[in-house]
Amino acid sequence: MSTPISILTVCLGNICRSPTAEATLREAAAEAGLAVDVDSAGTGSWHVGNPPDARMRAAGEQVGLAIDGQAQRVEPAALAAADLVLAMDRSNLTDLRRLAGSAGITTPLVLFRDFDPEATGTAEVPDPYYGGPDGFAEVVRICRRTSERLVAALAEGGVDGALRARRADA
Ligand code: 4NP
Repeated sequence: MSTPISILTVCLGNICRSPTAEATLREAAAEAGLAVDVDSAGTGSWHVGNPPDARMRAAGEQVGLAIDGQAQRVEPAALAAADLVLAMDRSNLTDLRRLAGSAGITTPLVLFRDFDPEATGTAEVPDPYYGGPDGFAEVVRICRRTSERLVAALAEGGVDGALRARRADA
């Protein structure tokens, strides 16, 4: 098997969106037979050590997706070690650019939904934390379809190919 592509998904708390994207990327990669190493992290530290939010896990379970892990804060070393870093929203991306810039890290940092085939323009994975159950279900749907498209692009052309395969209007 070839060297796995190392991907880091990042949100604010690392208990809702980024663990979901981590799970759907693994799922899509397994279906495609693509070797990936996926991890997730948060820009904030409030939930470090906690499992994913129970509402997020429940939304995953409803559609057969296990969302697991233990929240961790994103560290420069994790950015440097990844081949591709995926931010869930623009605020996450701004924080990541600052962190990477101050450490001289050149790993590509992009918005996850740049690969969402159903999105237009600059699209974010909406933060479901303060909303109702529909928001969590929507995060799962977004992450699933985006992961399928991204994994197909990675399988076709690796990280460089995937970066070129972002939506033209993203
Ligand atoms: P996440 O969601 O960034 O998708 O994990 C949130 C989790 C926790 C908080 C905000 C968003 N919080 O304010 O504690």
